[in-house]
Amino acid sequence: MHSLSYNKTKISIGDLAVSQFDALLQSARYKDVKKVIITDENVFDLWMEYFITTYEGLAEAEIIQLPAGEDNKVLEICAHIWNALSEYEINRNDLIINIGGGVITDMGGFIAGTYKRGLNFINIPTTLLSQVDASMGGKTGIDLGAHKNQIGLFNDPEYVFIDPHLLSTLAQPEKLSGFAEMLKHGLISSRKHWDDLKRISLDSLPTNFDELILQSVSIKKEIVLKDPMEANLRKLLNFGHTVGHAIEGFYLSLNTPIPHGFAIAWGMLAEAHLSLQKNLLSQVEFDEINTFIRGVYAPLHINQEHFAMLLQLMKNDKKNRDGNINFTLLKRIGEGLIDCGVTDNELNEALLVTLNSPV
Ligand code: GLY
Repeated sequence: MHSLSYNKTKISIGDLAVSQFDALLQSARYKDVKKVIITDENVFDLWMEYFITTYEGLAEAEIIQLPAGEDNKVLEICAHIWNALSEYEINRNDLIINIGGGVITDMGGFIAGTYKRGLNFINIPTTLLSQVDASMGGKTGIDLGAHKNQIGLFNDPEYVFIDPHLLSTLAQPEKLSGFAEMLKHGLISSRKHWDDLKRISLDSLPTNFDELILQSVSIKKEIVLKDPMEANLRKLLNFGHTVGHAIEGFYLSLNTPIPHGFAIAWGMLAEAHLSLQKNLLSQVEFDEINTFIRGVYAPLHINQEHFAMLLQLMKNDKKNRDGNINFTLLKRIGEGLIDCGVTDNELNEALLVTLNSPV
């Protein structure tokens, strides 16, 4: 079992059954409070019986089961959850337990932060994406139309319990989606992590996978600890996300959503090319990233006629300042650089080289 913490959040990585989770539910603070589990229909079918029958403290929990998928991370669903909390007479000393992927931990954290001005919450991430990224760091929120995470607040969970066993039911695309965020952690901060990740196969998760999760979470934790509100250093974590969020928004607007990490993987490739154009990243290292990403992630169906929409989405990105699109680029594999200005022409060139696929 690995433990780490940042701000008020304690994170444990390892088998949930031998973690502090059970003791926490039985603690004086939580024994007698109402507990509400927020989850989605997929996680409910796969895991809820395990949770309810294994942890006595959950036997009486109210369960709010939501439809699965990013297109449900919206205000209408929040209203449904707030109404349910109200119906269950939930108060500020009660506890919300989010069990699910990034949609559930993002939206559940937002719900916990806004209902009655905030109550404590725990995240139990069940996807790789939420284990290495979405479940910790404090950002919570929902989408607004094609704009990802446009409405939200910084709100740290009290605990995050990361149990790699819960990944056993994940389909390959979901593993690949989370893997993209792990690759990002390597690219912006640790050549060793990138090299370690390049060596593994996700077909069956390696036995040391919890060590790799630990490496990823530790990189994110160090960054978030130094700059929780994203004034500077935390922007490193946005590598791949300026183009990536536009790709994701583009597919969402077509009602054909793609996994977050696929958009981020291709976004990282486009932004690695920008880094090359800016003479930051060497050709050799760009080629290494290019070969790896193209070898792992299926090509997108985006071509030149979609670039104007991608650009429009990037210009509306909430990370922008003074009308400029703000990029995090790479100096080398293992070192990112924040606040890089990029012209529309440079961006078009990067998209053309990395994303354009024949119609
Ligand atoms: N909750 C995700 C983050 O703060 O990055």
